Amino acid sequence: MATTSQPDVKGATKQDHETIILVRDVHKYYELGEIRVHALRGVSIEIKRGDFVTIMGASGSGKSTFMNILGCLDQPSAGRYLLENIEVSGLSKRQLAAIRNHKIGFVFQGFNLLSRTTALENVELPTLYARISKAEGEKRSREALALVGLGDRVAHFPSQLSGGQQQRVAIARALVNQPSILLADEPTGNLDSRTAVEIMDIFQKLNDDGLTIVLVTHEPDIAQFAKRSIQFRDGRIRRDERILNRPRASEVIQNLPKLED
Ligand SMILES: Nc1ncnc2c1ncn2[C@@H]1O[C@H](COP(=O)(O)OP(=O)(O)O)[C@@H](O)[C@H]1O
Ligand SMILES: [Mg+2]
Repeated sequence: MATTSQPDVKGATKQDHETIILVRDVHKYYELGEIRVHALRGVSIEIKRGDFVTIMGASGSGKSTFMNILGCLDQPSAGRYLLENIEVSGLSKRQLAAIRNHKIGFVFQGFNLLSRTTALENVELPTLYARISKAEGEKRSREALALVGLGDRVAHFPSQLSGGQQQRVAIARALVNQPSILLADEPTGNLDSRTAVEIMDIFQKLNDDGLTIVLVTHEPDIAQFAKRSIQFRDGRIRRDERILNRPRASEVIQNLPKLED
């Protein structure tokens, strides 16, 4: 799943445990008139291909700011960011957009689907920007929807789908261009607890297949499904540790009560 056509700058071979994200002493300032908010205060992190990282921390601690930088939606004010050995800090908006489109899949708390288009059309959208042919784009989109268990819902509109199903459409959309990393900012924040665990089951399976995932959550129950937990506080990394004995979401689901439809 995690494929790239990018030449490898440093000549390392493409394999597991290769560094995919390298962040060095990143700062972010927001200027609001007279006021300057120092949202990130020297963040350094290395993430290897195949890892599954959760980011936790109080509201305002810099999690979304950090995710926006990882996702090339925003640039650091200072410091370095290398994504698959490509120096991202300093690229033009156009170059950033190209990297976003090819290397990064996003999933948000609010699903962000287009309401007047079907599940299939929502998933196809990123393939249009990537100049993939209509036929190939549709084929990939159907495959992505099948992968998240929605092969029989391709013609449904978002309003005809449950919250969990809408989030699965959003995950299919994030995967359709075969990104190197999946970034998810509070993806289960709007979902009931059983549905949230079902989404984590999908993430664990994607990660088993080699996809690198970085996920923000404020729920410890959700964070435990990842392999590594990073805690933000006041714009800094306060803790960074491996998660031992993480549960399998597919097993946890068995013990959760089913919601009435
Ligand atoms: N676009 C922005 N303009 C100004 N300040 C911002 C902006 N985005 C975030 N901030 C500020 O930066 C800090 C970190 O915010 P954020 O990254 O959204 O935190 P979190 O996602 O952990 O809740 C907060 O103090 C917030 O108010
Ligand atoms: Mg946030």
